[in-house]
Amino acid sequence: MRIGVLGTGNMAEALATHWVRAGHEVAIGGRDPHRARRLARRLGGTARATGLREAAGFGQVALAALPYGAGEEVAARLGTALSGRTLLDCSNPVGPGFSLLTARGPSAAERLASAAPEAHVVKAFNLCHEDVWRMRPPVFDGRPLSVPLCGDDEASLARVRELVRDTGCHPVSAGALDRAALLEATAALFIGLWVGEGADVQAMAPPLAWASGPGR
Ligand SMILES: NC(=O)c1ccc[n+]([C@@H]2O[C@H](COP(=O)([O-])OP(=O)(O)OC[C@H]3O[C@@H](n4cnc5c(N)ncnc54)[C@H](OP(=O)(O)O)[C@@H]3O)[C@@H](O)[C@H]2O)c1
Repeated sequence: MRIGVLGTGNMAEALATHWVRAGHEVAIGGRDPHRARRLARRLGGTARATGLREAAGFGQVALAALPYGAGEEVAARLGTALSGRTLLDCSNPVGPGFSLLTARGPSAAERLASAAPEAHVVKAFNLCHEDVWRMRPPVFDGRPLSVPLCGDDEASLARVRELVRDTGCHPVSAGALDRAALLEATAALFIGLWVGEGADVQAMAPPLAWASGPGR
């Protein structure tokens, strides 16, 4: 697969590392060409540094590894370069006090989709810290991490499922893009519990067998 990465920061590096190792062609697009070159060098393999526009049009998938708000702004500016691409959104619209910045409005993923109406937005990879995505692979207690995805376009969901597997994780369908708000709210809840309360989020849900009553 050919993957364009918009952004040269933590999530860009963590995720692109897996994809370069899996043999995908990756273009790193940054507003700062030095940072894009440095990241492409660190990634090695087929990774190359480009501008944001070139990365947007580089492949079947563009990862928006940009802060909430900047994603929309950049997508609107890139316009038709993103046309027909899978636009992968990992952003978390989480503000001071672990608040959800999109409360009472469209989700970050839906805002990105409005800014790039010809792209197919898929929400994924927003629930864990960059250091989890840097693990090779992210496995805890012998179980690979499950990664929920939301999106409306089946071909795009299939591509992102492949990219999730390439990180060593297990993709889980979490519904259409109008459910991305739930993933973003979950991130705000988890981050607040982890950072604010030191609570173990993993301990808060019963095993599947108990999902609808006593386990069998
Ligand atoms: N870090 C995590 O643990 C984590 C986990 C899950 C989800 N996320 C989400 O992933 C997204 C990226 O996070 P990150 O940690 O990778 O951020 P980061 O390390 O700060 O990198 C952000 C990137 O976006 C670029 N950028 C910022 N504003 C821009 C603009 N207006 N136009 C063009 N480029 C711009 C930055 O460019 P410069 O370097 O030139 O400033 C940088 O390359 C965020 O939405 C975050 O909520 C992060």
